[in-house]
Amino acid sequence: MNTPTTSSVSVIILAAGQGTRMASRRPKVLHTVAGRPMLSRVIDTAGQLEPAAVRVVIGHGAEAVRDTLTESPVHWVTQDRQLGTGHAVDQALPGLPDHAVVLVLYGDVPLVRAETLLPLIRVAESGSLGLLTVNLENPAGYGRILRDATQAVTRIVEEKDASEAERKVTECNTGILAAPCALLREWLSKLGNDNTQGEYYLTDIIAMAVADGVGIVTVRAPDASEVLGANDRIQLAQLERTLQARLVRRLMLGGATLLDPARVDVRGEVSTGPDCLIDVNVVFEGRVVLGSDVRIGANCVIRDCVIGDGTEIQPNCVLDSARLGRDCRIGPFARIRPDTQLADQVHVGNFVEIKKSELGLGSKANHLSYIGDSAVGAGVNVGAGTITCNYDGANKHRTVIGDGAFIGSNTALVAPVEVGPGATVGAGSTVSQDVPAGALAVTRVKQRILSDWQRPKKTQVKNGH
Ligand code: UD1
Ligand code: CA
Repeated sequence: MNTPTTSSVSVIILAAGQGTRMASRRPKVLHTVAGRPMLSRVIDTAGQLEPAAVRVVIGHGAEAVRDTLTESPVHWVTQDRQLGTGHAVDQALPGLPDHAVVLVLYGDVPLVRAETLLPLIRVAESGSLGLLTVNLENPAGYGRILRDATQAVTRIVEEKDASEAERKVTECNTGILAAPCALLREWLSKLGNDNTQGEYYLTDIIAMAVADGVGIVTVRAPDASEVLGANDRIQLAQLERTLQARLVRRLMLGGATLLDPARVDVRGEVSTGPDCLIDVNVVFEGRVVLGSDVRIGANCVIRDCVIGDGTEIQPNCVLDSARLGRDCRIGPFARIRPDTQLADQVHVGNFVEIKKSELGLGSKANHLSYIGDSAVGAGVNVGAGTITCNYDGANKHRTVIGDGAFIGSNTALVAPVEVGPGATVGAGSTVSQDVPAGALAVTRVKQRILSDWQRPKKTQVKNGH
């Protein structure tokens, strides 16, 4: 986001909890939403605020978290024992400048947007405490925001410590807040753990702020789904749906037709040119770039691909790390594997697998073939059942097929081998020597005709047995 903040903002992300309810061996914050660990999404959002520092408090599974997100530009803080959210924030404060503003985020609340956080930072910059709240029909489990007769916030009460009347309050604490660093440091140093859970509650600083005459400004989350956390896999699935709805909405606003937006999943980044059409059960992974008028049929998985204008991917195809030109026709049931480049107007039909190969302009492999480690020129026809035998059991070898060559059906091309431009290979051949340009190679055994041949007859069995 290009809205740089004026003072220095430090973000503290809490991610030390165990997440028992995930029933997982993996730390909770490494569970993914739309293909990426929740924590890495939160780190990204923090980064959009252009903060001076991002500190992530880790504890349970700390090593796994650090190892998974090694590339992240953050400072890791270890909280050895999880004594509460207040204690966790306190662990991350040392060394942060007093004049800084601290924003507290959560590793398991991955969908909050930078736009929503900015007002909180502004509040803290003005010397007050900014609290992100949310109104929930079912507030169970959340801390409740308590207000006095003038509607001023007086404190937050955790559900487990709340009276029956207090539990009826539907204005809830999201946990996300921003405060001037010096004040936060002072309040946290005075925190006690005399409560039902015996924890140092971050939320207790609200009452301290009130006592100190520091203003408290609440910011209502524009949409409850944005501030929801994942405590168990059911909530994780709900977050996934929420984010998917956001991502596919972006595709549609960008000019793509989704025949059913609920049945397209984006686990990465997809960009589309005008008038793409995407059928149901399509999964995008990694970075996918679609040109204009690209059509993707039902049940396709497309990862890290660039697909040119007007190309059609028919149903049930799997494409991985490939570049496809314009006006190609792929599938149904084709598999395009990494390092494949198809020029314009290439046709790849059913049960064709292509790996680490280039196919030139207008070439066709329409049925039942394997093309691996090959350079195929333009205007080549690869007949049904053609196999490039690229592997000798130890090494991979290349096959080169020149422009305009015609490979008859059921040909085995034993690499390394080259078929020259304009050459023809007769159906059923096993080609192990280079074929010169324009020549015909046939390795088929000569056909014999036995005119007086008789088919075997069933032996007669007596007594009906
Ligand atoms: C907290 C808030 C509650 C709010 C709710 C929103 C407190 C005391 N309560 O409750 O008001 O409605 O979040 O979801 O803050 N964590 C640590 N170290 C710890 C304890 C927690 O890193 O010692 C992390 C957890 O990994 C988690 C987050 O802090 O990501 C929140 O902790 P959790 O125990 O889930 O707090 P809640 O009881 O949900
Ligand atoms: Ca929680």
